[in-house]
Amino acid sequence: MCGIVAYIGKKEAYPILIKGLQRLEYRGYDSAGVALIHNQELNLFKKQGKVSELISFASDKDTSGTIGIGHTRWATHGAPSDRNAHPHFSGNSDLAIIHNGIIENYASLKAELSQRGHQFSSDTDTEVLIHLIEDIRIKAGVDLEEAVRIALNEVVGAYAIVVLSKKNPDMLIAAKKSSPLVIGIGETDEYYIASDATPIIEYTKNVLYLNDEEIAILKKGEELRLINIKNQPKVPYIQELEMQLEAIEKGGFDHFMIKEIFEQPTSIKNSMRGRIDLNKGIVSLGGIREYKQKIINAERIIIVACGTSWHAGLVGEYLIEDFARIPVEVEYASEFRYRNPIITESDVVIAISQSGETADTLAAIKLAKEKGATIIGICNVVGSSISRATDAGSYTHAGPEIGVASTKAFTAQVTVLSLMALSLAQAKGSLSDSKLRQLMVELSTIPEKVEKLLNTDNQIKAIAEKFKNARNFLYLGRGYNFPVALEGALKLKEISYIHAEGYPAAEMKHGPIALIDEEMPVVVIATKHGNYEKVVSNIEEVKARNGKIIAIVTEGDTEVKAIADYTIEVPETDEALSPLLTTIPLQLLSYYIAIMRGCNVDQPRNLAKSVTVE
Ligand code: F6R
Repeated sequence: MCGIVAYIGKKEAYPILIKGLQRLEYRGYDSAGVALIHNQELNLFKKQGKVSELISFASDKDTSGTIGIGHTRWATHGAPSDRNAHPHFSGNSDLAIIHNGIIENYASLKAELSQRGHQFSSDTDTEVLIHLIEDIRIKAGVDLEEAVRIALNEVVGAYAIVVLSKKNPDMLIAAKKSSPLVIGIGETDEYYIASDATPIIEYTKNVLYLNDEEIAILKKGEELRLINIKNQPKVPYIQELEMQLEAIEKGGFDHFMIKEIFEQPTSIKNSMRGRIDLNKGIVSLGGIREYKQKIINAERIIIVACGTSWHAGLVGEYLIEDFARIPVEVEYASEFRYRNPIITESDVVIAISQSGETADTLAAIKLAKEKGATIIGICNVVGSSISRATDAGSYTHAGPEIGVASTKAFTAQVTVLSLMALSLAQAKGSLSDSKLRQLMVELSTIPEKVEKLLNTDNQIKAIAEKFKNARNFLYLGRGYNFPVALEGALKLKEISYIHAEGYPAAEMKHGPIALIDEEMPVVVIATKHGNYEKVVSNIEEVKARNGKIIAIVTEGDTEVKAIADYTIEVPETDEALSPLLTTIPLQLLSYYIAIMRGCNVDQPRNLAKSVTVE
């Protein structure tokens, strides 16, 4: 949440900052702003709304300067408005700051600073931090670097910040704790800073991911210097980015979401690459090899995640219990961390996160670690905070996911969880060799089945046309496809703003059935091997009450076809792997409904891609 970008070098900063903000806009789009130093002046341009609003606002203004900072906001403290937009200035307008995170003790700091005569012009926690830095710099008579360091020792909460000073026009100071920050090392004297690598990739592949409580001092004509907030020098670890520029562009598609839906044959294949050897009959996830025995011996596995990743976790529970016979619990990270859970050293926690930055998941990991559990990560973003906080893990390799609604990340997570369950089952001997082999072969064929499924695109568009004005939707599934029902409902509500609920099909009669009438579309996942007859009965119950059935069925189905209003066929596969297929039409249905309703699918209202606040 909130994207930050900064540049110091010889080029004009403004175009770099704007392009960077556009790449980071998925992190929040309540307001955008930049501050630049030019001719000893600190110039500020900021506007409520998207980056495009900022561009129009600044179009007739002088945006020159070779040093600058920029911010795109997801509002936490203070409503979306021009005055709450970042960057924020210190009282004497010498300093400017951009910030991603939350300063939890901002109220007490603000009260103290107010008593000392500081006046604030926004409702944000961020403005308090820049006033604090200014206060320390003046009162303690220290330089900017030291003032930032002392201030960061006084704040409680999460921050990724960049500070710019009119008095130090050749310097940027960046620091982070719990919110991500990457520094790109360009040509001599040139640095790019951003919340993730997407604004940096087209300029340099050499990056430094800041660790918590580290401060980087970037000066023109000097090498980057790194200290921590205790003033101990740190050695920068520069690594090479593997990301490609094409991966973060739309490549001819209208939206990132649809591009990412269509990327799934490739992203699922990439998640499997090198991990299944059909010749040798081996499934292996290199990243967790050393921990495999520990997982097999675990008293139980606890999966922690949020949102779509939590839904993938539910599929993971079914897979691991089914294949490897190890007890699994799935927890919302946000609940887990606050409910005093019982965790022992024999527990293994699997944290699932696309971004690798979700604050609640990170906090759950920290808690489980303190209690001695082993932590395994399943993340998409290489080098992200979660991937670094875990003992071991497997990347999903889905490639950058820019659309706010998660699509290819979900199927990649389920692919990795399938591989994990198979590899644990293989090591434990809990599945017969022939069943293992059959599942491995089936899993390997999923990408081509997804490819085939994506050809039903037009049929789904036609169904979307029929239901685009519905006010509610119900999604039903059983067993492996219950989490898919939840995921289908989440996808629809987040991008089309239609109220939707996912339910285990059999639970419908315990309450939701009261909602069913001729106005209610009910999406039912009724694949051939998944409690089929029971789901057919559930469909009959809906039909008897005039509900409209959109059924996801296995190719060649006749029974459900005879009673459903609309059917979408998915290729046949093992029921355990069916979520990798049944999810796809639900993603497409949500996408087309949202488009037909005129919604911004890549940037749905109120949402942000990376939820770095609790
Ligand atoms: C839904 C969606 C969110 C995320 C959730 C967790 O489409 O994207 O529900 O799944 O915020 O995010 P990660 O996976 O980055 O931890």
